[in-house]
Amino acid sequence: MTRVIYVNGQYRPYDAAFIHAEDRGFQFADAVYEVCEVRDGRIVDETRHLERLARSLGELMIRRPMSQGAWQIVIRETIRRNRVSNGIVYIQVSRGAAPRDFLFPDAHTQPTVVCLARPTSRPAGARAAAAGIGVTTERDPRWNRCDIKTVMLLPASLAKERAGAAGAKEVWFTDSDGFVTEGGSSNAWIVTANDELVTTPVSNAILKGVTRTTVLDVAEREGLRLVERQFTPDEAATAREAFITSASNLVMPVTQIDGRTIGEGQPGPVAGRLLREFHEVAELAD
Ligand code: PDD
Repeated sequence: MTRVIYVNGQYRPYDAAFIHAEDRGFQFADAVYEVCEVRDGRIVDETRHLERLARSLGELMIRRPMSQGAWQIVIRETIRRNRVSNGIVYIQVSRGAAPRDFLFPDAHTQPTVVCLARPTSRPAGARAAAAGIGVTTERDPRWNRCDIKTVMLLPASLAKERAGAAGAKEVWFTDSDGFVTEGGSSNAWIVTANDELVTTPVSNAILKGVTRTTVLDVAEREGLRLVERQFTPDEAATAREAFITSASNLVMPVTQIDGRTIGEGQPGPVAGRLLREFHEVAELAD
């Protein structure tokens, strides 16, 4: 099957789809993106993802390329043309193409829009969640607007690469006071010895994950004791459980931090429960 990608109003086979060499996403990382889970052909938490996309665009003063309704059509059509029933859909918007200049181009410059969809293996995801992952920690190398979902992902990419070299699947960043901010591409959580579910509060230092928001909804529905506060890698190492959340990993147990075993060294019951119940609470859009 030929995979198809949406670029600036057209659905094209991959090898016939192009963006301009002077796109500002390419030259300045002047672009934002979203990743949504596709599950049984439905789009998970689409409303929240599109709302966050609109916010990211607004924070960077990039023109909204289309209405929320038009996005919904493009997302569905991209999923349909690529016959994805389980996977992800990725959308990216840059400020557009213009002769290289640090200053923004003319206000009429058309944003560049890309949408792609690809399948992922649900059994592989389930196997990973059953095994759990290790994380490493390092000082957060990123800028002070991590609340905006930009494609400026090189610091996270390098840090995840270092984590991978150390045998871990994710990196947890720490701030200047030694507290965990978030993962390289996920939000960070622990369950304490007295059964508090803890995650870092929202600030410019973290991306307000859509999965995080929905997991908070699940936890509330389940009557879990929720606390949004900071925690250190040491507290995580001695916690009962730890996990990460993201649209691509959902709720992924963390069993090791910097080589130290967390809890029993196995995925914990709270993470398991949040994962099982996640799609009962998330929005599933046809
Ligand atoms: N990453 N924090 C960062 C830095 C992220 O990159 C992500 C998501 C999250 C979790 O956000 P959400 O729950 O909305 O996916 C937190 C995506 C999945 C990625 O870059 O592939």
